[in-house]
Amino acid sequence: MAPSTAQRRPHAILVAYPLQGHVIPSVQLALKLASRGLSITFVNTLSVHHQTLRANSPTTDEEDVFACARRSGLDIRYEVVSDGLPLGFDRSLNHDQFMSALLHVLSAHVEELARGVEGVDCLIADTFFVWPATLARRLGIAYVSFWTEPALVFTLYYHLDLLRRNGHFGSNDNRDDTIDYIPGVPSLEPTDLPSYLQDTDTSTVVHQIIYKAFSEAKRADFVLCNTVQELEPSTISALQSTKPFYAVGPLFLSASTSTVPTSLWSESDCTHFLDPKPDHSVLYVSFGSYAHLSKRDLTEIALGLLDSRVSFLWVLRPDIVSSDDPDPLPVGFVESAGDRGLVVPWCRQAEVLKHRAVGGFLTHCGWNSVMESIWCEVPMLCLPLLTDQFVNRRLVVEEWRVGTGVEGRPRREKVAKKIGEVMIGGKVREGLVRKIGETRRALENAVVVGGSSEVEKQYEVR
Ligand code: UDX
Repeated sequence: MAPSTAQRRPHAILVAYPLQGHVIPSVQLALKLASRGLSITFVNTLSVHHQTLRANSPTTDEEDVFACARRSGLDIRYEVVSDGLPLGFDRSLNHDQFMSALLHVLSAHVEELARGVEGVDCLIADTFFVWPATLARRLGIAYVSFWTEPALVFTLYYHLDLLRRNGHFGSNDNRDDTIDYIPGVPSLEPTDLPSYLQDTDTSTVVHQIIYKAFSEAKRADFVLCNTVQELEPSTISALQSTKPFYAVGPLFLSASTSTVPTSLWSESDCTHFLDPKPDHSVLYVSFGSYAHLSKRDLTEIALGLLDSRVSFLWVLRPDIVSSDDPDPLPVGFVESAGDRGLVVPWCRQAEVLKHRAVGGFLTHCGWNSVMESIWCEVPMLCLPLLTDQFVNRRLVVEEWRVGTGVEGRPRREKVAKKIGEVMIGGKVREGLVRKIGETRRALENAVVVGGSSEVEKQYEVR
């Protein structure tokens, strides 16, 4: 991206959505833009800020998480705003209240902050915020919408009215036949839609957020998306005919966050477990930062893991079932796994996936995890739980064929069988390994000089 005014660096305020899967790519985007000569004021919520400092102590003793990046010459300032809830409030347990605060309170705090920052040209904000276009117009600056999921998910929300008019969304007896009328989208089954578009109750706070956020996104000056043009060519081309839409991913390849603490939980070191294991012998298991499992499904997955006889490293967040049930594994699970298994609350995933001992990833298909897994050429076993993960599964399993799915509710026999297919040599694994190598090359090519994610986009600073 190149400024059209030569004398002064363009200055953007970048507001990160206060969830782990959004903060990480937002930091990566800030680093990428600053390395291209922009001045950035990065905004976290106070709650994310405190959680980051707590998780990364004692390695971080600076209040300003970008201090190190600034010392290396990048012009990134750091600010925090309240999301309107007390610091100790359990945002995971009281999810609707958390979402309501984001819906009704946060924008006033961002506006107050923005009015106090000199010489701002542009607001870059996560597409899921419900106020950025309105706020940017009030401030007389541009709005750039930042989409952290694939273009396919963006286009489904963007065309919500089309889905509603065709009876695939928004009624109690939605059509269950193929969806073949979304511009730039090959046909999809209703079960491939984001979970919120499969819900029958469409009056929840999350639905209010989606309606409002996408009416704001339609008024954005342009959209930056953490995907790769070559992976979603027809969807991106169709979007580009309605609005400037740029694929700039995968952001972790053009901006290392190693100097910026982004993790919201302390990372366990897993090298003592992985180092002695043979190449490609360990299944990495994680369901990300946000989704929950029922106790029944967790039990079936745990028993399937034991039955598979494969070594595994399992990230099990203490709230994966509920904050009220921090130890949900079946009795005797850890003892039965012995030195074949390690369970940790959180890890440095990017490092784990790179480890030569890791040979497969049982994943919820969070978009960051999908891109990281492709980059590390680790075939996926997909078990989507929520939100965009069903759409991401579709891309992984059916479009790019770099993973296979556990279809329907997990059952121990099915989980064990699928783990065997992904981890143990044979036709299925060989096919996945070949395809994931080809797909990784698309990621590599996107970020070389002149690659599709690196081409400079000219824009006018108003
Ligand atoms: C959420 C949604 O669930 C996801 O579908 C959406 O695409 C982004 O927002 P999350 O569930 O956290 O994200 O999944 P994901 O997108 O995979 O992001 C998780 C991030 O946390 C990844 O960058 C991953 O490397 C990191 N992580 C995860 C760790 O660093 N350590 C862990 O132990 C687990």
